[in-house]
Amino acid sequence: MQKRLVRKLDLEKAISKIKPHPTPKAYLEQYTIPSETAAEILYIAAYTYNDIIGKTIADLGCGTGRLAIGSALIGARETFGVDIDRVAIKAAHKNAEKMNVKEKTHWILADVDVIQGSFDTVLQNPPFGVQRRGADRRFLEKSLALGHRIYSLHKGGKSNRDFIKRLRGRGTRFIPVPPSSFLKRFIEKHGGRIKAVYAMLMTIPHMFDFHRKRKHEFIVDLYIIERSTPPD
Ligand SMILES: C[S@@+](CC[C@H](N)C(=O)[O-])C[C@H]1O[C@@H](n2cnc3c(N)ncnc32)[C@H](O)[C@@H]1O
Repeated sequence: MQKRLVRKLDLEKAISKIKPHPTPKAYLEQYTIPSETAAEILYIAAYTYNDIIGKTIADLGCGTGRLAIGSALIGARETFGVDIDRVAIKAAHKNAEKMNVKEKTHWILADVDVIQGSFDTVLQNPPFGVQRRGADRRFLEKSLALGHRIYSLHKGGKSNRDFIKRLRGRGTRFIPVPPSSFLKRFIEKHGGRIKAVYAMLMTIPHMFDFHRKRKHEFIVDLYIIERSTPPD
């Protein structure tokens, strides 16, 4: 059994050992979250909002399991990762074994649409809908039906150069930003209330043909949402 990790740097190091998808597909937007972004999100969720330690977690579109395994490493009671891709689920399984959190993690090969149940916290880095329009909205709707608190990544609303520079600045890893009015309406319509939105910088290696540079850098917005109405 893995000892609970407390320091953010230890968590980041551990997550960096969780292997990314070996054969990512562009149409499923299968890029793997960088370890520093995953550790940052899990830290905010655990220590600013008390939504990880001792809680049940669902990681929707879990890929190879970085968010689910990371949450198990810092003290989640039980985590459930869901992905539509067999290769990703197989890799997540192996990664959980390697990281010694096999007993606390469960992996489900399925479309998020069919998942039922109730979880304290939903974590998700969904497809942003760049390849298939509306993909992130399907995830958002499902997460609001399943979770009490939701941590959902979306395409950043603010991405001008100065803003990116500020996020690259030493020690600045996230900046509070206002929500998009479209997502705010969507979330409220589905029974959610936005607690905070943080812009973060994500850097991923060149993966797909449409990536023009060796490294692909972009802004993501982390939406922290509370369900304001009980589930159906
Ligand atoms: C951006 S990747 C994120 C992977 C992982 N959560 C991470 O952050 O490293 C999005 C993931 O969603 C999965 N996915 C896409 N559509 C899905 C669906 N309808 N149901 C379940 N998983 C889906 C993809 O296979 C992919 O692994």
